[in-house]
Amino acid sequence: MTLVGAGPGDPDLLTVAAVKALAAAEVVLYDALVGDGILDLAHPKAERICVGKRSGRHSLPQGEINALIAFHARRGKRVVRLKGGDPMVFGRAGEEIEHLDSLGIPVRVVPGITAALGCAASTGLSLTKRGVSRAVTFVTAHGRDGERFEPDWARLADPQGTLAIYMGREQARAVGQGLTGAGLPADTPVLAVENGCRPDERRYWTTLGEMAEQGVAAGKGPTLLLVGEALRPRQIGTADAVDLRALGDFAQGFDHD
Ligand SMILES: C[S@@+](CC[C@H](N)C(=O)[O-])C[C@H]1O[C@@H](n2cnc3c(N)ncnc32)[C@H](O)[C@@H]1O
Repeated sequence: MTLVGAGPGDPDLLTVAAVKALAAAEVVLYDALVGDGILDLAHPKAERICVGKRSGRHSLPQGEINALIAFHARRGKRVVRLKGGDPMVFGRAGEEIEHLDSLGIPVRVVPGITAALGCAASTGLSLTKRGVSRAVTFVTAHGRDGERFEPDWARLADPQGTLAIYMGREQARAVGQGLTGAGLPADTPVLAVENGCRPDERRYWTTLGEMAEQGVAAGKGPTLLLVGEALRPRQIGTADAVDLRALGDFAQGFDHD
């Protein structure tokens, strides 16, 4: 049984190991978050089973997913459990691995690019920045089975850190209120990335103060909230404008004309 990270959506962002596992699979159990085109990489004869939320249908309960994986693995099939992003980040991989371990079914994990890193790459915004942000925190604003929960805002409100908030769209106002209430400035930049790394990626800029009042205007696609000074839009014409002549010989390496 191979637990495979499908990355944020673009098939080009799969690892070579993920592509090989898909090509060899006889059964693929996949989540709704898996991007278009990725399932096409599975063996043409592989049985494809959707276990995630799709077109209004609810996902299978975790217990049933565990049982289904075990059922196919015990039939001696080469099973791939395909999850969006990285299986080990808000992917409930732990529950599936524990269940299979308890049945003596060996599990191999193939990592994927998690949404935060995919969105950083597609937007060209570094999550850390020298002198500005020295930590990145992956956090969810979503309670167990959708229930409300109150994160420790004081711990998260680090002015020298970047927050990558998963499953945060519905709780965006509460996130803005919690973080400003814990002392982060209201003008702290927020970037909401919807459908990151997909052809329909959309970006919504706001600030913590605005988000506390209005939430974010993102649509229904998976949306990641990035919060922190490292996201502040670049001041074109200042630090970015380097006079190549001043760099002398070193600059010649950059001269493609
Ligand atoms: C259940 S979590 C799964 C996270 C996944 N395991 C990962 O590593 O990215 C689902 C949340 O991940 C974020 N997410 C996943 N894919 C995304 C994408 N392509 N663009 C933006 N956010 C995404 C959203 O916050 C979404 O609500």
